[in-house]
Amino acid sequence: MRYALTVLILTAATSAAAQKFEHLADRPPMGWNSWNTFACDVTEKDVKAAADAMVSSGMKAVGYQYVVVDDCWHGERDQAGFIQAHPKRFPSGMKALADYVHARGLRFGLYSDAGWKTCGGRPGSRGYEFQDALTYARWGVDYLKYDWCNTDKLNAEGAYLTMSRALRAAKRPVLLSICEWGNNEPWKWGAEVGHMWRTTGDITSCFDCVVGHGNWKSRGILPIIDLQTELREHAGPHHWNDPDMMEVGNGMSTGEDRAHFSLWAMMAAPLIAGNDLSTMSQTTRAILTNREVVAVDQDRLGIQGFVWLERGDLQVWAKPLARGALALAFVNRGRSPETVEVVWTDHVIKDDLNKRHFDLGKHTYRIRDLWSHKHRGTTRKPLRTTLPAHDVMMLRLDPTGNAPKPGSANADHRVEMG
Ligand code: GLA
Repeated sequence: MRYALTVLILTAATSAAAQKFEHLADRPPMGWNSWNTFACDVTEKDVKAAADAMVSSGMKAVGYQYVVVDDCWHGERDQAGFIQAHPKRFPSGMKALADYVHARGLRFGLYSDAGWKTCGGRPGSRGYEFQDALTYARWGVDYLKYDWCNTDKLNAEGAYLTMSRALRAAKRPVLLSICEWGNNEPWKWGAEVGHMWRTTGDITSCFDCVVGHGNWKSRGILPIIDLQTELREHAGPHHWNDPDMMEVGNGMSTGEDRAHFSLWAMMAAPLIAGNDLSTMSQTTRAILTNREVVAVDQDRLGIQGFVWLERGDLQVWAKPLARGALALAFVNRGRSPETVEVVWTDHVIKDDLNKRHFDLGKHTYRIRDLWSHKHRGTTRKPLRTTLPAHDVMMLRLDPTGNAPKPGSANADHRVEMG
């Protein structure tokens, strides 16, 4: 009797505990995903080329880590229900592909779906969650993107929790990327279950458009970021809002790609490239490997930025960083150049949510331009510049003068006033 009671209590404790593997996403995850470029035609050759290019382009050196195969890698299930790789496009199988990626010091990701079928019509994991998780562990999968097509009336939290438990039971640490497009407010329950969650439907490669596809829409950069502003309180270390894989290098102008990358960094978004890494231009490579912008994304406080100022088509995003620093992104959303003039000393930039206030009248900051990689003086002098259409200026403000030494006890709170 006593034994039965102990078992009962243990079971209750386990079901309440977080299932996800800890410390896989202390910072926003970084990597590459096949979908935006290769869609359902992806082959093992494409994935190997992406892994090679992630190393040779310098992306690995700045922090990109995951190589993720999205939808359509699947073949059929075998007679015992085990999922197989597509025999023609992945003839060497997924274990060999994972080994190839691991041999380059990178991590390997796969895609599945909580429903009967994936969005591309391949076998989904519904009813096979534990068996699939076991297969992924055997293959050496480190990351699972788990989609939401063909789920009928499934309960989203329950469905993702089932896969989270299945991964836990298979015992190989796997980062779980929840992809249900924000339909069931995953920001309210996702942190216990997975490491990041999509907040919107699919991205498309344009700066300011919404494209209808019958019963769903895809969105360009500006319409996506406009949907993130209310969600910032939900993001932070181990649990991130995911505004989707990037479209940098997929056809927008250089200024638009720069603005897109800057905004993802300002939002502390996962930086998952979606272009063809093996053929990308030097310009695209330079955007994706801009260390100073990546550092804003990866800042250890993990604060998602907010809109500080808006004037016509000019929007200024702010993101408090560790050591009392602040990132600012001036975005020209419009189709003609914008004049920017900032008399810094007139402003107090307040992040009430995180209780970080930057009083520019009282404290002086050194200004660094994160795209020209140059210093631009201090906040004692007004800043004047012209921003081209659909482009960005991204700055980092670091306290000068009496700034504490990095690592000292109050290093993160120097400008906190509230
Ligand atoms: C959904 C997801 C996309 C992609 C496709 C694959 O649309 O949101 O990111 O994974 O499915 O079919």
